[in-house]
Amino acid sequence: MAVKMIKGIAILGSTGSIGRNTLEVIRKNPDRFRVVSLAAGANIKLLKEQIDEFKPEFVSVLTESVLKDLRKDSPFLCRSGFGLEGAVEAASHPAAAMTVSAIAGAAGLLPTMAAIKAGKDIALANKETLVMAGPLVMEEACKKGVKLLPVDSEHSAIFQSLSGHRKEDVRRIILTASGGPFLNTPYERLETVTPDEALRHPNWSMGRKITIDSATLVNKGLEVIEARWLFDLPASKISVSIHPQSIVHSMVEYTDGSIIAQLGPPDMKGPIAYALSYPERISGGAQTLGMAGLRLEFMEPDLIRFPCLGLSYEALAMGGTAPAVLNAADEVAVGMFLEGRLPFNAIFKVISDVLEKHSPVKVTALEDVIEADRWARDAAHVTMRCFG
Ligand SMILES: NC(=O)c1ccc[n+]([C@@H]2O[C@H](COP(=O)([O-])OP(=O)(O)OC[C@H]3O[C@@H](n4cnc5c(N)ncnc54)[C@H](OP(=O)(O)O)[C@@H]3O)[C@@H](O)[C@H]2O)c1
Repeated sequence: MAVKMIKGIAILGSTGSIGRNTLEVIRKNPDRFRVVSLAAGANIKLLKEQIDEFKPEFVSVLTESVLKDLRKDSPFLCRSGFGLEGAVEAASHPAAAMTVSAIAGAAGLLPTMAAIKAGKDIALANKETLVMAGPLVMEEACKKGVKLLPVDSEHSAIFQSLSGHRKEDVRRIILTASGGPFLNTPYERLETVTPDEALRHPNWSMGRKITIDSATLVNKGLEVIEARWLFDLPASKISVSIHPQSIVHSMVEYTDGSIIAQLGPPDMKGPIAYALSYPERISGGAQTLGMAGLRLEFMEPDLIRFPCLGLSYEALAMGGTAPAVLNAADEVAVGMFLEGRLPFNAIFKVISDVLEKHSPVKVTALEDVIEADRWARDAAHVTMRCFG
């Protein structure tokens, strides 16, 4: 009888929504996976519980002072680190066969790249990695022969719908979008929506940043850019369809007019389990989808009400550092909106103003995107003074 190897997993962003769901999948499959390292930010209460339960060999947190707090009252035995260096060490832990990249935002880029350089397969939730540095990341993954398995439910669906088909037969891929909490909200009302309203996503329970991005449709725009690199398709072959039920996770249309779709309940444990176990399929704890009475609607996105989606296609067309700039300006604007210091509709104005001021340069090294990210954050703060 063949002996089944237990796969070592490193989790970046273990205390977040994807991190917690990943640990649930692992908890259900102890004969397949073992946690070897965890990286988190500042939620030490939850991290302590995770350390007690999963006994990783290495943990990392955001800062040295958070690490001191973590060690207080719990002199756990595993090795530890902090900051970028700590996250990189967690990402490239020698015992990890796969690294789950689920730190929120641009902070996920360098640890994910470190994991690729260390030859780890990647379960990729951190879409910013490809948005900021798609060509470099894909080149490095190819060079190291590592698999980039999408965790974003849309990209997981496309990945599954492409399987067994020829890429040259693809007419287009169709990313579905729920439309978020403001799908039917009148445009004028968007001026006054509050963070609490924007955080009430109708179908998905996610981190705060991605939930606001889903309300503006920036998230879908970032996913268009992610898909461009992950599937090596031009923007003209990537379209978006609003699908309020979030049951069809995305589709591929072929030249003969056939559309292959992947369906499932809106539960991230599904795509996470698929990425962890690929090419096998395991149960990660997602429920069965009830088919009786299922209603599936699709509609065109309203680019007047949600102009951020159009901006993402513009950034792709600008090329080079423009997507990294779009991402950084959005991170700053969303942070200010969540603090109640920027109206919802001004998120678009900030991103478009910063993009307009940007002269993109070709991305030849990570330093190019890091510099563009820094520039865009400064530019976004300058722009926001006009709206503050
Ligand atoms: N949630 C979803 O359903 C979903 C779906 C598809 C893709 N994604 C993508 O997955 C990523 C994570 O999303 P999420 O919803 O899980 O976010 P989240 O709930 O906000 O969690 C973010 C995680 O990153 C950690 N973190 C933040 N900054 C860090 C840093 N500088 N160093 C180390 N750790 C840091 C946080 O730690 P603390 O909380 O301890 O501070 C937390 O563990 C995003 O890129 C998102 O776009 C998410």
